[in-house]
Amino acid sequence: MGVGGCLVLPWRCLVVLSLRLLFLVPAGVPVRSGDATFPKAMDNVTVKQGESATLRCTVDDRVTRVAWLNRSTILYAGNDKWSIDDRVVILTNTKTQYSIKIHNVDIYDEGPYTCSVQTDNHPKTSRVHLIVQVPPQIINITSDITVNEGSSVTLLCLAFGRPEPTVTWKHLSGSKGQGFMSDDEYLEITGITRDQSGEYECSAVNDVAAPDIRRVKVTVNYPPSISSAKNKGVSVGQRGTLSCEASAVPVAEFQWFKEETRLANGLDGVRIENKGRMSTLTFFNVSEKDYGNYTCVAINKLGNTNASIILYEISESPPLAGPGAVHDGNNAASRAMACLWLSGTLFAHFLLKF
Ligand SMILES: *[C@@H]1O[C@H](CO)[C@@H](O)[C@H](O)[C@H]1NC(C)=O
Ligand SMILES: *[C@@H]1O[C@H](CO)[C@@H](O)[C@H](O)[C@H]1NC(C)=O
Ligand SMILES: *[C@@H]1O[C@H](CO)[C@@H](O)[C@H](O)[C@H]1NC(C)=O
Ligand SMILES: *[C@@H]1O[C@H](CO)[C@@H](O)[C@H](O)[C@H]1NC(C)=O
Ligand SMILES: *[C@@H]1O[C@H](CO)[C@@H](O)[C@H](O)[C@H]1NC(C)=O
Ligand SMILES: *[C@@H]1O[C@H](CO)[C@@H](O)[C@H](O)[C@H]1NC(C)=O
Repeated sequence: MGVGGCLVLPWRCLVVLSLRLLFLVPAGVPVRSGDATFPKAMDNVTVKQGESATLRCTVDDRVTRVAWLNRSTILYAGNDKWSIDDRVVILTNTKTQYSIKIHNVDIYDEGPYTCSVQTDNHPKTSRVHLIVQVPPQIINITSDITVNEGSSVTLLCLAFGRPEPTVTWKHLSGSKGQGFMSDDEYLEITGITRDQSGEYECSAVNDVAAPDIRRVKVTVNYPPSISSAKNKGVSVGQRGTLSCEASAVPVAEFQWFKEETRLANGLDGVRIENKGRMSTLTFFNVSEKDYGNYTCVAINKLGNTNASIILYEISESPPLAGPGAVHDGNNAASRAMACLWLSGTLFAHFLLKF
């Protein structure tokens, strides 16, 4: 190897220099690396971060000097330790095998290691690559977020591992089954809809260990819309309830109006109760003045909407099943008709008396 070779592969020259210092390599004798036949080093060594790696070199009794190198640095020459790293120990130095062990391997240990021997005054080297694997690990992921409907969202999931993990996103709690996926560290959603709210899962996968999986919750705010508001008929003296249901994120607050007047809880014999998506207006004892047109207003920070609900009068409901009525085979409607007819007859009778 001449000066030109040193410019191309400077570390190799350092190996040669180091070995010459050790008198392993006579000056002027080129070092052949990657000699497949002898000395015999093992195939590439693959270990997980934190585990130990054993580097073996097969020799025979013609061998006079041996050394293991990390790139250009001598780790061991024969039984002499050159490395100051106490993770590096000698394992065997026999007539057939020369091996060292590296404990608690880390990613910076990855690289070429060289077994160098001298046989009959001929230096030979053999190289083995130490490959360090690291389980997938998510190192940075978007935290839970809240956005308004229609805005654009980018979820980020950065993962580390060796080999580099594949990162995918998927939507878990989509109302229409599993939502779309992304085979990327970034998941971009433009014009997000309320259906796209929920849990998103990022997985980082390589074949070293189980995937690393983390979740992000995306909350999509949207203004209220009233989904249910029905008119209600109640007779005087009865208890009556108007209810109003709205979907909204964040959950809507409700207000009740009669004409222009806002109703207050507890006043005028009414109670207003809000429970989740639902608000109810209860009249404990309906009187004539209660009938009319009510407005339920649902409000959150993104807007408001309202619906009209009529409380109207119905005549006193007829007494339902009297004793024995359950067994007489009449249904409620025919009994009601009979009652009406009966009261009409009684009323006519009453008129005739005067
Ligand atoms: C050993 O690893 C090196 C570097 O990763 C690679 O170039 C070489 O092909 C590998 N050799 C074998 C036998 O796997
Ligand atoms: C091998 O060399 C690299 C680069 O100099 C160094 O970071 C690493 O600690 C060395 N490993 C061993 C086991 O000597
Ligand atoms: C995560 O990534 C974001 C966007 O690139 C960056 O602003 C933030 O500082 C990173 N956080 C950490 C803990 O690295
Ligand atoms: C309902 O109100 C009427 C008139 O104010 C009253 O006579 C009646 O006793 C009340 N009924 C109940 C159950 O409070
Ligand atoms: C009730 O009031 C609203 C406005 O407050 C109006 O739009 C609606 O027509 C009214 N309904 C009835 C039946 O009068
Ligand atoms: C109900 O909504 C209409 C139009 O959306 C609005 O004009 C009206 O003021 C609202 N009524 C109340 C009581 O908020």
